[in-house]
Amino acid sequence: MNKTLFIGLMSGTSLDAIDVALCRCTESGTSVIDFQTHPLPEHIRSEVTTFSHSKEIDLELLAALDIKLGRLFSEAVLGILKSTSYESSDIAAIGSHGQTIRHKPNTDETAFPFSLQIGDPNIIVEKTGITTVADFRRRDIAAGGQGAPLVPAFHQAVFSSEKLRRVIINIGGFANVTLLDGHKLVGGFDTGPGNSLLDKWIMQHLGLPFDSNGDWANSGSVNGELLKKLLSDKYFLRNGPKSTGKELFNLTWLDTNLQKLGENIPKKNIQSTLSELTAQSISLAVSEFNAHEAYICGGGAHNSDLVKRLIMHLSPTKVENIKKLGFEADHIEAAAFAWLSYRTLNGLASSSPISTGANGERILGAIFQA
Ligand SMILES: Nc1ncnc2c1ncn2[C@@H]1O[C@H](COP(=O)(O)OP(=O)(O)O)[C@@H](O)[C@H]1O
Ligand SMILES: [Mg+2]
Repeated sequence: MNKTLFIGLMSGTSLDAIDVALCRCTESGTSVIDFQTHPLPEHIRSEVTTFSHSKEIDLELLAALDIKLGRLFSEAVLGILKSTSYESSDIAAIGSHGQTIRHKPNTDETAFPFSLQIGDPNIIVEKTGITTVADFRRRDIAAGGQGAPLVPAFHQAVFSSEKLRRVIINIGGFANVTLLDGHKLVGGFDTGPGNSLLDKWIMQHLGLPFDSNGDWANSGSVNGELLKKLLSDKYFLRNGPKSTGKELFNLTWLDTNLQKLGENIPKKNIQSTLSELTAQSISLAVSEFNAHEAYICGGGAHNSDLVKRLIMHLSPTKVENIKKLGFEADHIEAAAFAWLSYRTLNGLASSSPISTGANGERILGAIFQA
């Protein structure tokens, strides 16, 4: 009998943790059997951050980080196997997203579009004994796409509903939306920053890794002039397909805009403005779609201040936590990579050209056979 258990591994731009989802994927659907987060040690986090920003990179250090992350991803898989009492031989495949070091898919910015994820899959297959699928983004880029976002096809498979126009809003470090018209996927793109600027601003000024519940943002008020300036970035004005990351939206981008404004804005008001920026850039991007329902997932679903703003701006669209559709907000991205590996192993395409802009559907990822 064909194995139906798949493990998805995801470590996003927030660098909060490695997400591990043990899923059952079959023709009739996908369900999460168990989910765990595996810690990313501080030294790894800071190495990833350094590589993401530096212009000059020591090749040997990068190659070493590739191995370190491969080992860490393996430990994450072994951890979920141990606590669920499954054996390696029970698992059909691991879908490993890898850690993004740089994402530069736009041909207008570089003649050599690329997206680089590391965490050596050879190590994962050797240490776990489980066939591993990795390198999901580059085939789509080679086919003329952005290589991102890849989750819309999964959202379509599990969250579409006949006769309903639904928006799935994933708020990780960056935010992406999936537009579903009945069972049809009609769009999917990155809207801009999700939690990333909120995390960075509160870390810089209060030394906290994130704004729990959005309480700090909620304690301030939005600066209209700054918001207008931030929203005038041409990224927000472009239609999809489009994808982005910390190469564009980072503290330098924020500081440049603050300097242009020349005002001394209280720190907490800047946090409120950043929360409003995430909410408005999402709502502006989906306003024409006139959805019946919107569902929020990703870590941003825990930020009540942000959710409150989204509910206000998306009205009259009904806004719910994705839990309403049977999945926990934090499980979805890792579950998506379990599903992507299921598709690859079965020789099925899983890219969505409507969201990435590629020339056509492709079977994504490379298979490292156990
Ligand atoms: N309780 C919370 N309150 C506010 N924000 C939260 C909370 N829990 C998680 N987050 C936000 O979610 C982020 C992690 O989201 P995640 O979907 O894992 O992003 P990524 O895919 O980039 O790793 C954290 O960095 C933080 O900003
Ligand atoms: Mg995360």
